[in-house]
Amino acid sequence: MRAVDIIARKRDGLALTDDEIRWFISSYTRGDVPDYQAAAFLMAVFLRGMSRQETVSLTLAMAHSGDVLDLSDITDYAVDKHSSGGVGDKTTLVVLPLVASCGVPVAKMSGRGLGFSGGTLDKLESIAGYNVNLSNEDFRRLARENGIVLSGQSHDLAPADGKLYALRDVTATVPSLPLIASSIMSKKIAAGANGIVLDVKVGRGAFMTDLDEARALAQIMVDIGQDAGRDMIAVLSDMNQPLGRAVGNALEVAEAIDTLNGGGPPDFREHCLELAGYMLRLYGRGQRWIDEGDIRQTLLKHLDSGTGLAKFRQLVTAQGGDVRLIDDPSLLPTASIVETYPAAQAGYIAQVAAEEIGMASFDLGAGREKKGDPVDLAVGLIVHVKVGDRVEPGTPLVTIHANDEQRLAACRARLDRAFAFSPTPVEPLPLFHGTIFGGRPTPE
Ligand code: URA
Repeated sequence: MRAVDIIARKRDGLALTDDEIRWFISSYTRGDVPDYQAAAFLMAVFLRGMSRQETVSLTLAMAHSGDVLDLSDITDYAVDKHSSGGVGDKTTLVVLPLVASCGVPVAKMSGRGLGFSGGTLDKLESIAGYNVNLSNEDFRRLARENGIVLSGQSHDLAPADGKLYALRDVTATVPSLPLIASSIMSKKIAAGANGIVLDVKVGRGAFMTDLDEARALAQIMVDIGQDAGRDMIAVLSDMNQPLGRAVGNALEVAEAIDTLNGGGPPDFREHCLELAGYMLRLYGRGQRWIDEGDIRQTLLKHLDSGTGLAKFRQLVTAQGGDVRLIDDPSLLPTASIVETYPAAQAGYIAQVAAEEIGMASFDLGAGREKKGDPVDLAVGLIVHVKVGDRVEPGTPLVTIHANDEQRLAACRARLDRAFAFSPTPVEPLPLFHGTIFGGRPTPE
């Protein structure tokens, strides 16, 4: 086979065969196909699209370009979750221990933040000593011993995606549904999951700003998973305003701990209950955990009794983190300047623009511009209001945690653009915009 022929076929709008796609991806991963041909291939896919069958072939070729985790000695059914990324999304920190506390093993690899979108690994590193770089042996051992492990992604997992994603970034080929869907799903499949819950964010603070596009992406990912023999549930969740109140690494860890203690912001708590519930439902597959009321009662009990928090403590201990800060979150990294950003006028909150809040936190130093940049774990925002809330002049809208006056000024200017007020009542935003089921969990 020749790369140029495969590129030409896609350029002309023809469907590629499974063999062609597998050959192209494995040759590119080995370095036998150069970047310039892979770039042409990506642009042809971007312009011509891919059928469901081609997208499944591409996903599986990328998933098998490196190691594929086999977790069958740890659990006969592995559940995983993936979030497409948003502002204030610390869901994994709550959902993983919560699910594990129900006796369902979870072994998850997470990523770092980029731009204004946070990453679970950065948040975890707010916990002094927490080791996100585990060897394969330690990852498996901790999953087996504790039923929970949460680390960075192994370099050997879906290496084709790593190479292709970097190339897409510089060839204007990121926003392509088959390329995004195959990129996300290849990593999930390589990570050994049997059942996957996808949290597809939609709104101004998400990768996908349009509901129809987000739904199309969720559907493609569900289809891919189903064709690859996985059970799938995709949740479309709103990301027009931040999730919960905290935005910024250590602040989000504190909010996650509060939620695992039975507290936390109501929207975030509900979001966690929904996602954890779907993970349990996948795990049940018609056996245990099929009754939604039963699932919710169990999860509520585990939140309010501290059973989920005990699992989080076990996770942090096992990965070398300082557990004292779970009981005393004031030991988390703290910022030197803490000030309030008040409402300038009375009214109903009509907008808490998630992307502006995310950028305001980024301006403080909580995010990274490019891979490898350092992040300030202590800085960020606590957003006290949601769309629909009534405020008076001077009502605190945000508490800013900063370490630098110049950055603080940039943050304040950004916050001036984040809020809008209405003289008449405003409907609160929905938490979810729908759920897509694939594989066995399809409801009756
Ligand atoms: N996240 C990924 O992992 N890949 C994409 O292509 C987009 C978002």
